[in-house]
Formats: sequence, C-alpha cells, structure tokens
Amino acid sequence: MQVNKIQPKTFNEKIFQMKGISKKTVEEHLKLYQGYVNKYNEIQEKLAALTDDDFSKANQVYSHIRELKTELSFAWGGVVNHEIYFGHLGGEGGQPTGELLKQIEKDFGSFEAYKKDLKATGIAARGWVWTAWNEKEGRLFNYLGDAQNTFPVWYAKPILALDTYEHAYFIDYGVNRASYIDAFFENLDWKTIKENFENAIRKCTCGQEESCDEC
Ligand SMILES: [Fe+2]
Repeated sequence: MQVNKIQPKTFNEKIFQMKGISKKTVEEHLKLYQGYVNKYNEIQEKLAALTDDDFSKANQVYSHIRELKTELSFAWGGVVNHEIYFGHLGGEGGQPTGELLKQIEKDFGSFEAYKKDLKATGIAARGWVWTAWNEKEGRLFNYLGDAQNTFPVWYAKPILALDTYEHAYFIDYGVNRASYIDAFFENLDWKTIKENFENAIRKCTCGQEESCDEC
C-alpha cells in the first residue's frame, strides 16, 4: 500500500485573535489537529506493513486490519474536518454574497433560516455539522456527524464545518454550546467558504480538484 505522508497546514494568524473563541482554545485545539495528522501517517505505515498473517486473520469482530481501517477513517476525518474549520475562521462574520447567498436562499429560504438550521443541527450533533454541496441533488444541506468519521454522505462535498466537540468551546463557554455557535458565526470568513463552494460545484474531470484550473 502506498503511504501518503501529510503535513499539518498553517492557518491564518487571525484565528488566534477571534471574538469569543480564545487563543487558548485555538492553541489546544490545534494540538488535536496535529495529533490527527500524526495518527493518519502512523496508521498508513502500519497498513503498509501488514503481513500475510494479518490478511489471513481479517475478522469483522476484531482484527488488526479492521482496527487500522476503522481508525484511519477517524484520523482522516480529524484532518479534513479541522482544515475546513480553521480554514474559514478568523473572518469578520456577516453573510455571504453572490452565488453562494443565492444558493443558500434557494435551499433554505433565507440566510437567517440557514443559520437557524445550522445552529440547531450543531446543538443536536455530538461532533460536527457540515454544510455540504450534494452534487447528486444539486443543493446545500446541513449534515450532522457524531464523530470525526460519522456520518459520511456520498456525493456531499463540505464547504463549511462546525466543530461541536466540547474541546472546541468548553474553556470559553463551559456547556453553553449555543453561545459558542453564535461566536463561530461572528468569526466566519465567507470569502473562503465562497471559494469552497465554487470548488464544490465545479465539475472537475482531471482528478486534481483542489488545484485544478482547467475543468
Ligand atoms: Fe476539534
């Protein structure tokens, strides 16, 4: 198996000076992100080193390959979710413009209705909420996840990620998650989310979606 070692991303310095989400919270949170990067690399090494004995002992109740494959998805989720999350924080809040705003209004009725749905989904989630472009349905939807790797929805590309694990807000808000979500909205960088949306709706056929300027 090919090992694709990844490096942690560097985020905008503004994430350390946000309104209502403290520098301490962000610093601690970034340590968790680094941990997901490290574990993703480590698990890949272990998958590459699987022996014929490991393959022959594959088992759905417990086996080495089951453990590695399951936790690889958790680690990868931890990497991608946090890269979306920190990637669109450090902004001025407000609301989107242009095609993204139009799509939100089409799919939710209004920006306020979208925010209401996102916030309530965030209160109901045990881990994450993603606003994602469902390319099969051609709409935006707020999906709920209870962990880094639940519940993936096929054909849905996330453009916004809201971390609702306690580590994202407990230092600042205790158990008051609703106030954290309000602060999250106030620090969103809608320019980045708009770019995420434009990338999500673009039909790329060359396989280099993140860097593609051709398709
Ligand atoms: Fe997190």
